[in-house]
Amino acid sequence: SSSLRELLLSRIRDVPDYPKPGVMFKDITPLLADPAAFGALTDALASLCVRLEADKVVGLEARGFILAAPAAAKAQIGFVPVRKAGKLPGSTLRQGYELEYGTAEIEVHSDAFAPGDRVLVIDDVLATGGTAEASLDLVRRAGAEVAGVAVLMELGFLAGRTRLAPALAGAPLEALVVV
Ligand code: PRP
Ligand code: MG
Repeated sequence: SSSLRELLLSRIRDVPDYPKPGVMFKDITPLLADPAAFGALTDALASLCVRLEADKVVGLEARGFILAAPAAAKAQIGFVPVRKAGKLPGSTLRQGYELEYGTAEIEVHSDAFAPGDRVLVIDDVLATGGTAEASLDLVRRAGAEVAGVAVLMELGFLAGRTRLAPALAGAPLEALVVV
């Protein structure tokens, strides 16, 4: 709803020239510190889990963890961490993706999903879409289905939605706020 959107937007702080000159950083810490806003966000994400009939929630390290874990608990479904490479102890699947400078790798436990599990991927921001795209590849490689992607904030000018479309393969991308 527009009132949820306004509440969330009012608690996201613009920090100019961070982490480098010319970049406007979207700081969600004021939102996390406000129980009304964080609670409303958690409720909205948990409702999406129900609507999309998700069996598991994936959170993307690190900021995605903060939003995804309470949503999974509220929706009464399991939480699965997708971590930066080298942090998970068990057998893993690994996926590389492009960053502005260089590349990065993320991992998930190979046995994180039951075959055919429907997975909702949650992150704070969709920027270029590279992180989310790599996570969808991991989910499928691990034998699960993509129920959708949900982000607090979509940076519309970076066209991540367009980049993500092939990997979504018809599953929805839900953005609670578009800037
Ligand atoms: C940020 C953000 C998203 C990602 C979006 O994470 O939290 O996960 O970038 O960018 P993209 O759409 O261009 O891939 P970052 O890698 O900075 O790490 P963090 O979450 O650990 O802070
Ligand atoms: Mg992140």
